Amino acid sequence: MAQESRFPAGFLWGAATSAYQIEGSPLADGTGASIWHRFAHTPGMVRDGDTGDVACDHYRRMPEDVALMRELGLNAYRFSIAWPRVVPNGTGPVNERGLDFYRRLVDELRKAGIAPVATLYHWDLPAALDDRGGWLNPDVAGWFADYAVACVRALDGVELWATLNEPWVVADGGYLHGVLAPGHRSAFAAAAAAHNLLRAHAAAVDACRPFAAGKLGLVVNLAPKHPASESADDRAAAVRDDAYMNRHYLDPALLGAYPPELAAIYGEAWSERYDEDAAQLRTPIDWLGVNYYTRNVVRHDTAAWPTGAAAVRQRQSAHMETNWEVYPTGLAEILRWVRQRYCEVPLYVTENGAAFYDPPVAADGRIDDPLRVSYLRDHLRAVADCLADGVDVRGYFAWSLLDNLEWAHGFSKRFGIVHVDFATQRRTVKASGRFYSQVVRSNGAALFD
Ligand code: FCB
Repeated sequence: MAQESRFPAGFLWGAATSAYQIEGSPLADGTGASIWHRFAHTPGMVRDGDTGDVACDHYRRMPEDVALMRELGLNAYRFSIAWPRVVPNGTGPVNERGLDFYRRLVDELRKAGIAPVATLYHWDLPAALDDRGGWLNPDVAGWFADYAVACVRALDGVELWATLNEPWVVADGGYLHGVLAPGHRSAFAAAAAAHNLLRAHAAAVDACRPFAAGKLGLVVNLAPKHPASESADDRAAAVRDDAYMNRHYLDPALLGAYPPELAAIYGEAWSERYDEDAAQLRTPIDWLGVNYYTRNVVRHDTAAWPTGAAAVRQRQSAHMETNWEVYPTGLAEILRWVRQRYCEVPLYVTENGAAFYDPPVAADGRIDDPLRVSYLRDHLRAVADCLADGVDVRGYFAWSLLDNLEWAHGFSKRFGIVHVDFATQRRTVKASGRFYSQVVRSNGAALFD
């Protein structure tokens, strides 16, 4: 079948998770508190008062979860390392017991023939660093680089390293809108955090380069921005939203300049110093991870802070439980855009998936989730289209391996291809997990059956 060849040999077929969302045991074995531990324990911040105290109990059930990945036939797994497990105070001595967990995970994965792909920062900053300003303190770039070197030197079985996961979400959710940890609501804080995140990324790549040749990358979340009408105002709003979310991070990291629109978007919160420093934010990376869930259709609306671009719900489309529009062709659009605007750096889809309603308990040991099956099929077909056009996509990671703590939504949004009964910790492979397994085992051919 012609389609079979669309996915090259060696394509990484994986699933993704992050530490705070699945591990539980947040203070075990000398681990320091993270900003997410604090945030979740602050009343009103996470739905239903949910916390990551137990989550999927992965810290204690890790070998069982790796066995599950093996059963599914995955050949890659993207996880994140909790900075406060490795360096409890954020700077200073390394906590070998914390590092040991990830040593065991990497070993277990390699024994199972699964390529470990590690993210160094998936939002769980050591709380001790937040006390010193966290991402607002310019010293954070050096703190992060030291932590990154400690991980890279200790875990040489990791195939791909990502510095940051979704710096836009960290700055926008954590520092501008205050809906994610550490909960600031300030354009000044958001602009400063964004700049320091980019400085930290560059510092970590440069510091790790001698120990991790060919493996260092960055993960961003991208969304095509479409104007709600052809009016000049709506089109300008879409351009601003694109600058704020997509180009804000990739332009400095890959081209060495901030998009010119940012000064107007942030207003007095934008410092000229950011533009002056931007050339230093560019550093060569070996791969780029793209997280894709949805697109945004926007209209001009001065009340929409800070971009003046308000989302317009597409009533003709299906939506996920998170209210995100299901829009598979957006994945192909954004991958082509990255390739065209930036460079030929190898691309990986490091997250893609959907929250649809699943019951809390798997009746008769089954979870039928046809909406998630369609979502995965349609998005993977979009990846196949890109490959046919010559876009260099080298892997795909479903978000998520397991139902987990969806940040401020708590456990109310299930993204897993494996269902978790949070009362018993029982895992049940969903129909989407079985479907994905067939896709993986056929190197993509099952997408076209
Ligand atoms: C992404 C995050 C991931 C998860 C998915 C649904 O923004 O990287 O942790 O929350 O969204």
